Amino acid sequence: MNPYILLLSIILFLSCNQEKPSNEHEQQIESLIRQMSLEEKIGQMTQLNITTIVQDSILEDYGNVSHYVLDTAKLVALLQEFHVGSFLNGRAVSPENWVYVTETIQNVNKQHSAIPILYGIDHVHGASYLRNGTIFPHNINIGCSFDTSHAFLAARTAALETADLGHHWIFAPVLGLGRAKSWGRFYETYSEDPLVVSRMGVAAVHGIQDFSATTPYRTAACAKHFLGYSDPKSGWDRSPAEISDQALREFFLPPFKAALDAGALTIMINSGEINGIPVHASHELLTDLLREELGFQGIAVTDWLDIIALDEMHGIAENEKEATYMAIMAGVDMSMVPVTTNFCVYLKELVEEGRIPESRINESVRRILWVKFKLGLFDQVLPRADRLDRINSPEHIAGSLQAARESMVLIKNEGQVLPIRDKKILVGGFTLQSKVALCGGWTYRFAADSDRWFPEDMQTIYDALLATFGESQIQLLDENRLSEQARWADVIVLATGENTAYAETQGTIDDLALDAGQANLIGRCLDTQKPVVLILTEGRPRLIPEVEGAVDGILFAGLPGVYGAQAIAEILSGAVNPSGKMAFTYPKRSGHIISYNHKKAEYSSIRPVSEELQRYSIAPFGHGLSYSTFVYSGLRMDTTFSDPSLPVSISVEVRNESAQDGKEAVLWFVSDLVGSITRPVRELVHFEKQLISAGESRTFSFELIPERDLAFPDKLGQQLLEPGQFRLEVGGLTSNLYYRE
Ligand code: BGC
Repeated sequence: MNPYILLLSIILFLSCNQEKPSNEHEQQIESLIRQMSLEEKIGQMTQLNITTIVQDSILEDYGNVSHYVLDTAKLVALLQEFHVGSFLNGRAVSPENWVYVTETIQNVNKQHSAIPILYGIDHVHGASYLRNGTIFPHNINIGCSFDTSHAFLAARTAALETADLGHHWIFAPVLGLGRAKSWGRFYETYSEDPLVVSRMGVAAVHGIQDFSATTPYRTAACAKHFLGYSDPKSGWDRSPAEISDQALREFFLPPFKAALDAGALTIMINSGEINGIPVHASHELLTDLLREELGFQGIAVTDWLDIIALDEMHGIAENEKEATYMAIMAGVDMSMVPVTTNFCVYLKELVEEGRIPESRINESVRRILWVKFKLGLFDQVLPRADRLDRINSPEHIAGSLQAARESMVLIKNEGQVLPIRDKKILVGGFTLQSKVALCGGWTYRFAADSDRWFPEDMQTIYDALLATFGESQIQLLDENRLSEQARWADVIVLATGENTAYAETQGTIDDLALDAGQANLIGRCLDTQKPVVLILTEGRPRLIPEVEGAVDGILFAGLPGVYGAQAIAEILSGAVNPSGKMAFTYPKRSGHIISYNHKKAEYSSIRPVSEELQRYSIAPFGHGLSYSTFVYSGLRMDTTFSDPSLPVSISVEVRNESAQDGKEAVLWFVSDLVGSITRPVRELVHFEKQLISAGESRTFSFELIPERDLAFPDKLGQQLLEPGQFRLEVGGLTSNLYYRE
């Protein structure tokens, strides 16, 4: 007998409610396509980097560029001969300079084409390629906030600040899972958990793409990097992943499906390979799954250099022309080439030779034109120099600061060492006076090599602590005078972590452990017998195994952004009550690479399983302390269901038993105790964060829909829900739930 039930929701899962072009747009698109030459169509499928149209004098000094000067002769040549339809990228130049750049591009283009240019930019945590753009915490912080409004606001702010500069395409949100802890892009992920990534991703898509009549901007989101990019086997960027079809569907696909269902107009493809097939050449992923199964109507853009990478990096194509053939036939719509015109030349040859049918080209051009129509570019494409005052407005700064406050996780607080009031504080550490350490990569440039790129008035942690506690309470640690200073101090605060900004392969490390110098300093401070508090600024969980167990307090600050130092000082002083929880499992040692939703057998040598957390993690997924004390009680729910489409109502009371108001993120987990495909030991099914005033109680409730929340896919994507026992868990309370047919 078949041990499981295949639900009708299989069909629900596969079918998509994604928007299609309106009749009006369809007619306009078809009319344009009829008039376009093959070269013009291929031009629409071509995206070039801004370096291809700036003056040579700037190109030589591109790393230091703070002002663009375009080379209009180059621009004219590219538009006239190759009809390029999209440009990308930048540096943190002034808004006025961006207006000049995008206005010039569009004006020159108008002389050669009726189709506007689509400009794309990597604003992954605020308007990061804009001088004075508002920088938000990176996604890993946003995930730890467990509040989707921060993901929404970060994305909306970026869109608001950049759309009027002529940027209509934001290469965000990142929808990978933060499972490979040493990966140099870990901080760009929201979480190791698919539900957190899905909900944050959907919020970000809504922030970027708001097409209501009153919204003063039109921008397209880009769900990236489709699919499985975030789990390279080695932990190194763009290196191969081996992920089973079942795991791809259960863990990696849901955030993308959610973002596409939320209307994301574009996706960017994973540069790496999965199970031996580079994704840029995978018809199975880019056409069978993305188009036919998910029903995606928008643009699939390659990542940087990724067509030629099929030859040079992956070695599955003999040359760039064959690589072009493979990528287009797999389902690519637009090539982020990004610095040559080879793509245009080879694609034209391939069509003329009859190897690629023109109908395949038309298919991609239709999608690209649709996005351009949808964004209203045919009506308004020029930048709006009259609306630049909203950049870095007090409201935007407040949004970033609040996200920073709510995204830090108090991991440890022995003896209530925090908050610090009326105490003398010795402050030191490798990241204490660093701006880079608070913001990480993709801030003002790809990876800023020093603080000189950051706003002068941006506070470091030291600046913020001094401003908050005052000179009488703060001394800057001098290693030569440590014992004398420790006699003066009541507590030692050390800013520890990654004192560098890195992006992609630049973030490759050999060891999760921090350099010996940092551990050494912490050890010397511990020797003074004064309480020691660590503030961790880092883009991934770096380890200090020798000393981590001995310190009194640990605040995971992550990459909290330009206003992060103030938020740190506020948490240390008690002005802000910490409310973040770990959105990933913080390991104890480099070998502890397993996520919270691991399989039962991962720790089969350890019993009871609850011990695993203390042994393998300094902060498990969902852990986070507060200055308030929250007590959970009164878990109420039905204990059986027989119709999986009907909701099961669940609620719990949470009481703030302290004298301090605080926010609590309530995390609901489910365990499927027996499964025909091995089940994760726990899976998050819902989360919600609310403010609970001192002494007050709040009811948190949600409706669990079994076919949505308890089913899991097999390797073909069929959703299974098996009769039997489930366990629900919230704040240490548990209840059984039975599915009886
Ligand atoms: C990254 C993408 C980014 C693109 C454009 C690539 O190297 O992987 O995330 O959007 O560059 O800058």
